[in-house]
Amino acid sequence: MAVVHIPAQNRDLTDVAEIREFLAPFGIWYENWDVAGRIGAAATNEEILAAYEPEINRLKQQGGFVTADVINVNPSTPNLDAMLAKFDKEHTHSEDEVRFTVEGNGVFHIHPENGPVFSVTVTSGDLINVPRGTKHWFNLCSDRKIRCIRLFEDMTGWAPHYVDQPVHEQFAPLCMGPSYFEVASGSQAPRGFSE
Ligand SMILES: [Fe+2]
Repeated sequence: MAVVHIPAQNRDLTDVAEIREFLAPFGIWYENWDVAGRIGAAATNEEILAAYEPEINRLKQQGGFVTADVINVNPSTPNLDAMLAKFDKEHTHSEDEVRFTVEGNGVFHIHPENGPVFSVTVTSGDLINVPRGTKHWFNLCSDRKIRCIRLFEDMTGWAPHYVDQPVHEQFAPLCMGPSYFEVASGSQAPRGFSE
């Protein structure tokens, strides 16, 4: 389940309906899909696409997407740091960035034109789109692992366009998931900072 964190308001949203309502004015869709038992631990990318075919087809019709693929990122991914460095700086794309998280975690920071920066921490079962032209950046969480279904209208549209006067350095790449809340409610410091 996703967590939305709005640092300027010291506010967190964890309820699906509340998250959807908060994100809608920014043109961001959020859905939480039931993932229990849908794929095995060793599922291939093809098996993942087959398992989620009904949802993928619905999204293609809804958003005009043409292709879907699976991206699999983990600590053994070659050139992981260089890959992450492309997307952890504030940028936009000329098409929507649509991601369904199959496994792992990540955090999207969104910088709206009108309103404070907020983060959306995604985990298994979370679908989010970042509309074209929306300023954002992405970090992995401390486990540095994510497996996502991506939808594209045209893969060339997904190149990052870096913004002038970016603000990403002002925000900690803090992943706020269940482990954050469990630990934060105890006596230890919150976990979940990206490395
Ligand atoms: Fe992006």
